[in-house]
Amino acid sequence: MKKIDIISATPDLLKSPFSGSIMKRALDNGLVDINFHDLKDYSISNNKQIDDYQFGGGAGMVLMIEPINNCVNFLKKQNKYSEIIYMTPDAPVLNQKICNKLSVSGNLIIICGHYKGIDQRVRDNIITMEISIGDYVLSGGELPAAVLCDSIVRLIPGVLNDGTSALTDSFQDNLLAPPVYTRPSTFQNLKVPDVLISGNKNKIEAWREEKSIEKTERIRPDLLKK
Ligand code: ADE
Repeated sequence: MKKIDIISATPDLLKSPFSGSIMKRALDNGLVDINFHDLKDYSISNNKQIDDYQFGGGAGMVLMIEPINNCVNFLKKQNKYSEIIYMTPDAPVLNQKICNKLSVSGNLIIICGHYKGIDQRVRDNIITMEISIGDYVLSGGELPAAVLCDSIVRLIPGVLNDGTSALTDSFQDNLLAPPVYTRPSTFQNLKVPDVLISGNKNKIEAWREEKSIEKTERIRPDLLKK
């Protein structure tokens, strides 16, 4: 079973995304094992210090190397890991290709940054991969870590009820997903496209592909250039 260990200074922030819906089901069914580790428990000082002022001056606290090193070493004694990932806005941006790769990789450690960042020696010597979830800055790496986990966990075989549904997601083929409709087929004067209730599988597939391309050209033309 894939194991994901998340290291955070504020692990309480991580709880809710894992306590419902698809992620909870995956955990309950033993399809993935996710654990949170409080960085403060690995501090080397009595007052549980985990961050300090930056050398050279400047605003903001920086996460220290010792607690992170202690926690990672503790985890590495018990398991083998494919990647030690650091969530940070100054990194390559997450995409579906990375999610696919990480979903079939071995165990993962995810480190959440906070405040001003993390001692560069952690990035240079402990971390094997850095991921941003987009070109905007959040207060910490906890929400990004939850985003990354969700994107990976839903791809693990058996997690989604419908085995094909992850394959038809937006981005799996660099196209946005086509529009979807459900009952009623007519709401006030709003009708579902006839083709979707025609029962003709080939026509439906062709319509969906056409809509996918149309939507991608309109909203994300950059994807079509890839
Ligand atoms: N931490 C703060 N902002 C972030 C972002 N955009 N991606 C990943 N980690 C972050």
